Amino acid sequence: MNIDDLVGIYEIAEIAGVTPAAVANWRSRHPDFPPPALELKSGPVFYLGPVKKWLKKRRKNMTTVIATINLKGGVGKSTAMVAIGEILSEAFRKRVLIIDLDPQTNATIMLIGEEKWRELNDKKHTLATLFEDALKETQNFDLDQTRQKGVSAVDDVRTLDLIPSSLDLIDVQDNLASMPSGRFHSNSPIDVLNRAMKPIIEEYDYVLIDCPPNLGLITLNGLRISNGYIIPTIPDVLSTYGIPQIIERVSKFAGNIGETIYPYGIVISKFQANSSVHQRIRKQLCADADKDSTKHPMVFKNQIPQADAIAASAEYDPTSTLRQKYSYQGRYDIFHSLTEEIMEVAD
Ligand SMILES: Nc1ncnc2c1ncn2[C@@H]1O[C@H](COP(=O)(O)OP(=O)(O)OP(=O)(O)O)[C@@H](O)[C@H]1O
Ligand SMILES: [Mg+2]
Repeated sequence: MNIDDLVGIYEIAEIAGVTPAAVANWRSRHPDFPPPALELKSGPVFYLGPVKKWLKKRRKNMTTVIATINLKGGVGKSTAMVAIGEILSEAFRKRVLIIDLDPQTNATIMLIGEEKWRELNDKKHTLATLFEDALKETQNFDLDQTRQKGVSAVDDVRTLDLIPSSLDLIDVQDNLASMPSGRFHSNSPIDVLNRAMKPIIEEYDYVLIDCPPNLGLITLNGLRISNGYIIPTIPDVLSTYGIPQIIERVSKFAGNIGETIYPYGIVISKFQANSSVHQRIRKQLCADADKDSTKHPMVFKNQIPQADAIAASAEYDPTSTLRQKYSYQGRYDIFHSLTEEIMEVAD
């Protein structure tokens, strides 16, 4: 046996770019993780070859789960996420699931329209039921009935599914927060979504999670299953103000659950080229990232302009192509290139 061919948990974590806790997690969760070659006092050691092979296979089969977060409301999170989901499906032929965790139900309405949403909401086929179940120890959530397959008003978007939200999530969010923590010891309030989505996550290439503008328990449920997150922001003082807090708190949360949740980057939205504030803050965000990429996430090159046609895209209005939906003038191409950039950092 050549000693150079052996690696411990720490080395594996380094090779994979994750925390040692994440590697320990893989070992307990994946029965096909290579068995240790030896158990030393300091911990198990593994043959490097099989570990590398396993990591490669894992990357290839992996579903990429991306959350969309900003503590500031109205910065264009839902609009950007729906556009990215539709482009992933239409242009890149990816299988995509959008999970709408926001009680405002914006992404849901954009993708299925208000009428269909009311129908589902009346029948309790929304995410609110899942969280109510966790609170009341009932079992009313029906994944098959709740998951909406082949959503979007755009004909060419054929592989996009949705887990719809409900206004009732507001009440649930409040109750989850006041839940005595002991009650959930085997049934954690941040693990509700994870347990429910596990059976279907691997059906998808990408899962996009639209989070409400806070870091409450519902958002943490989304982060719990995310590989990383993007931060859409208007480049102004108030919208970018909370970004350092997001980075810090998500990183702490990831550490607590033994996972890595990458800040993939900042998506500049509602950009107004003629605004000196927008120009200045965009430059500042880019400069910060260049100076210290460990503290400041990178800024995606493609920025979403402020445009009526983008605001109008929120309407559930049947069209045949995404180019039609975003009207012309290069807006479709911006979303397309932005999606490409996100795929690159997230894969
Ligand atoms: N690029 C854009 N140009 C013009 N209007 C936009 C653009 N992006 C979003 N909007 C509009 O701005 C409003 C807020 O957008 P959106 O709902 O996507 O933001 P959000 O960050 O998800 O909000 P919330 O925090 O409430 O969930 C909507 O009316 C939307 O149509
Ligand atoms: Mg939103």
